[in-house]
Amino acid sequence: MEHLLNPKAREIEISGIRKFSNLVAQHEDVISLTIGQPDFFTPHHVKAAAKKAIDENVTSYTPNAGYLELRQAVQLYMKKKADFNYDAESEIIITTGASQAIDAAFRTILSPGDEVIMPGPIYPGYEPIINLCGAKPVIVDTTSHGFKLTARLIEDALTPNTKCVVLPYPSNPTGVTLSEEELKSIAALLKGRNVFVLSDEIYSELTYDRPHYSIATHLRDQTIVINGLSKSHSMTGWRIGFLFAPKDIAKHILKVHQYNVSCASSISQKAALEAVTNGFDDALIMREQYKKRLDYVYDRLVSMGLDVVKPSGAFYIFPSIKSFGMSSFDFSMALLEDAGVALVPGSSFSKYGEGYVRLSFAYSLDTLREGLDRLELFVLKKRESMQTINNGV
Ligand SMILES: Cc1ncc(COP(=O)(O)O)c(C=O)c1O
Repeated sequence: MEHLLNPKAREIEISGIRKFSNLVAQHEDVISLTIGQPDFFTPHHVKAAAKKAIDENVTSYTPNAGYLELRQAVQLYMKKKADFNYDAESEIIITTGASQAIDAAFRTILSPGDEVIMPGPIYPGYEPIINLCGAKPVIVDTTSHGFKLTARLIEDALTPNTKCVVLPYPSNPTGVTLSEEELKSIAALLKGRNVFVLSDEIYSELTYDRPHYSIATHLRDQTIVINGLSKSHSMTGWRIGFLFAPKDIAKHILKVHQYNVSCASSISQKAALEAVTNGFDDALIMREQYKKRLDYVYDRLVSMGLDVVKPSGAFYIFPSIKSFGMSSFDFSMALLEDAGVALVPGSSFSKYGEGYVRLSFAYSLDTLREGLDRLELFVLKKRESMQTINNGV
């Protein structure tokens, strides 16, 4: 019966991250620096709110867009965090994680033949959904632009079929963010064109140099903002995302969302209400730890002589391994087998990630130290053996 399936579903590839994690699981004594979620527990007060909700039998369907009380609390939270002005009743939808917000947004705006411009390397969660819609991902090489999708690069990729530009900053896998000036130039380029921006801001609370800035401030009418609590409050398993869009767009996204999931989990919504009401600074404590780890990891990679762009957000760093003359998959496999360290091959993040590896610093400093010690030894040995070959020995 498999041949009867939607070819677009059959063609979806298992993500490179998943494939590599399966290989890692077959090895013992591995320091894995591959994870894409915070290593902290969900804050205690948030868990307590969920327990209370269960005890009080808050176990029914909720309004499709989420409890109004939660949307109002999210409205206030985002007003204070990012100076957002979205109406709780008509412009905010509570989703099942950022992933489902992305899915609902794409399925609402995309038709077959539409093109979606995205920076590469990129998080692998967008491309399969765009393909399922019959639209075309147009991934732009950002490797010689510090991994930033600039207004100039977007301009070069625009065609009459362009329907959307994805701005996933701070970025997974590179940790790079766009500044206010850079976002303003993109907004100026796109203003008035029939093009949406899908701004995935799930790492917005994890920025290290300057506060996060949203393109929605300058391009509100054309922008759909994706956010949520997975990364800021270490709530990946609770599945709570937020979608912000102007009323006329949100009302259509809400229909797609409604026929997909009805609503986000009632218990998780009560936990989310506590998080955004009394957990305004929860992310700060985690952010301090990430910042220390970032500085440590960056210094170590630089001292190993690896070419690396210093991240200013999220919890990933993306060093180049081009000097070793191996594919990112072969490099990661050799590192796993010879040194017992797991990093995600850059090719998991589109073809423009080839030549890089992703290291997650959502791990304790002790784990990072051990992983980096092993990586350093591996790099030294690789260089020595390359030297030997070059010398013709
Ligand atoms: C850029 C980006 N967007 C969205 C998601 C998905 O977030 P959620 O777990 O809330 O669905 C991730 C998860 O790693 C991500 O890195």
